[in-house]
Amino acid sequence: MCGIVAYIGHREAYPVILKGLKRLEYRGYDSAGIALIQYPPHNPSDQPVITVYKRKGKVAELEEYLAAKDLHSHVGIGHTRWATHGEPSDRNAHPHLSGNGRLAIVHNGIIENYASIKQELLNKDHVFHSDTDTEVLIHFIEDIQQNNQCSLEEAVRIALRRVVGAYVIVILDADHPDTLIAARKGTPLVIGVGKGEHFLASDPSPIIEYTQEVVFVNDYEVAIVKADELVLKNLGNERQTPFIQKLDLELAAIEKGGFDHFMLKEIFEQPDTIFDSLRGRLDEQQGRIIMRGVEEYMQKFIDAQRIIMVACGTSWHAALTAEYMFEELCRIPVEVEYASEFRYRNPVIHPGDIVMAISQSGETADTLVAIEEAKRAGAIIFGICNVVGSSIARVSHAGAYTHAGPEIGVASTKAFTAQLAVLCMIALKVGRQKGTLSNDRFIHLLHELALVPDKVKEILQQHDQIKHIAAKYATARDFLYLGRGYNFPVALEGALKLKEISYIHAEGYPAAEMKHGPIALVDEHLPVLFVATRDRFHEKIISNIQEIKARKGQVIAVIHEGDEVVPQLANEVMVVPQADEIVAPILNVIPLQLLAYYIGVAKGYDVDKPRNLAKSVTVE
Ligand code: G6P
Repeated sequence: MCGIVAYIGHREAYPVILKGLKRLEYRGYDSAGIALIQYPPHNPSDQPVITVYKRKGKVAELEEYLAAKDLHSHVGIGHTRWATHGEPSDRNAHPHLSGNGRLAIVHNGIIENYASIKQELLNKDHVFHSDTDTEVLIHFIEDIQQNNQCSLEEAVRIALRRVVGAYVIVILDADHPDTLIAARKGTPLVIGVGKGEHFLASDPSPIIEYTQEVVFVNDYEVAIVKADELVLKNLGNERQTPFIQKLDLELAAIEKGGFDHFMLKEIFEQPDTIFDSLRGRLDEQQGRIIMRGVEEYMQKFIDAQRIIMVACGTSWHAALTAEYMFEELCRIPVEVEYASEFRYRNPVIHPGDIVMAISQSGETADTLVAIEEAKRAGAIIFGICNVVGSSIARVSHAGAYTHAGPEIGVASTKAFTAQLAVLCMIALKVGRQKGTLSNDRFIHLLHELALVPDKVKEILQQHDQIKHIAAKYATARDFLYLGRGYNFPVALEGALKLKEISYIHAEGYPAAEMKHGPIALVDEHLPVLFVATRDRFHEKIISNIQEIKARKGQVIAVIHEGDEVVPQLANEVMVVPQADEIVAPILNVIPLQLLAYYIGVAKGYDVDKPRNLAKSVTVE
């Protein structure tokens, strides 16, 4: 969701910003733009001016539009916009200018009280050229600066004290072409520190090819950025010490590496990413799991009367799977909550409750505000994030990273399986320590978990068969995904993947519940996907398959190797290696990821950037 890039230094700013915007495309957007400080031609001693170029559509279209233009500049800002206030259009695209055209802003987030500020400004005859909250903000800053005769930096601080909402902003000032002003609250901003240059971006991906040294700006900080100087202040004008961190990110991790799409690359990375999330934690030889964040809070887990899991999207499906794991292995009641619902319904939270926040990006606004609320109510916040140093990771009391590496495909794949692996390890560790899990079963499950990466490799070898199945069903209008027990969240995740990537309507349901409604949809045109691996429900799910067959539905089934019954009933099967039902979801979801991917590709869609979706949803 909205991406920001800015540059100040000795290089040409435009190519840096353009490349950065391309790197941020994965976040989801519908328009793009840049603003540069330039000196009018023929008279270099003239006052510098801000030139703005913006377009609805892809960054490539903006690039084409700019091909013949003079873009010479050493300071600029760029933006990819995911529409919130105002439709996607040229005029709503960022950057936005102040009334006198001397300031330009890019913004990620929402200014919730923009309407009242806008009214104040309209009363003062400000004229707006877009429907955005962002344009209101830059006019507001300009207005404060003019009324108070103060510096831009001071005007930004005053404005932000009035603003309600979340934001990252970066501002260009034609009167001070050597300085960028940036600020954040709630959404991420990273500043790359180079030699005589600085790079600002929504995440490190536009920065890492130039420098690995970065500063993550904190909430309520204002950054005053010159080519060779970075000053951070809080909203009270007190200087803050920038904490420079060294990233350990290789460029290859954010490039496609020979795959057609990031999504496919990330699906195929899973043997390694799952291994990475187990590495250094799962110690089969000594029969133990090492997780410092869990160890520190072990007594709290043991004493917990309940665990509340909050998450959105795919991470919510990981949470639902974890509910089954924690209740079974740790005998702790678990509630799984959509973060957006949890936050606003006045939830009952007791001190000592553990709230586990699960988030790939660590920036999802709903999840972030939900845990802030829970923290205020005295809960212990345990974060499970993929992005190191992300907001959720920082707000949490303790946590565990999933170590799946950067996930660029909008549809989450490798982050999901890494979440499951980490949640499983936590449940095993707590269950063993609490005594609700026997040592024999613990050791068995450790072994099962350790085998997962190789088993994922085996599943991936069937990609051609799955592609073949995808081609057959790509024209379906609807899909039903069914599973029971640990396979129910897998069915939900499979349906979500298909919806996201192929725009086919797909519903996930508990297989038995199907009789209470969805069965009415079944006819010879409806593909019904069963996650039907052998577990304690196997007999029952076979009955459910019979029920669908009796109504002429097309059955696609994920089965365990060696299953002789389901292949006789199903139209298609996708085979996965045997595994204990607790780790089976990590394997069973892989064919569903591939199926969604190949159907999306067969339909000719841009699977890495599905329409309307954003990778990281930083607005509520
Ligand atoms: C967006 C993404 C999903 C993701 C969800 C939650 O909707 O498109 O892939 O599952 O946000 O994101 P998080 O980063 O919190 O896991």
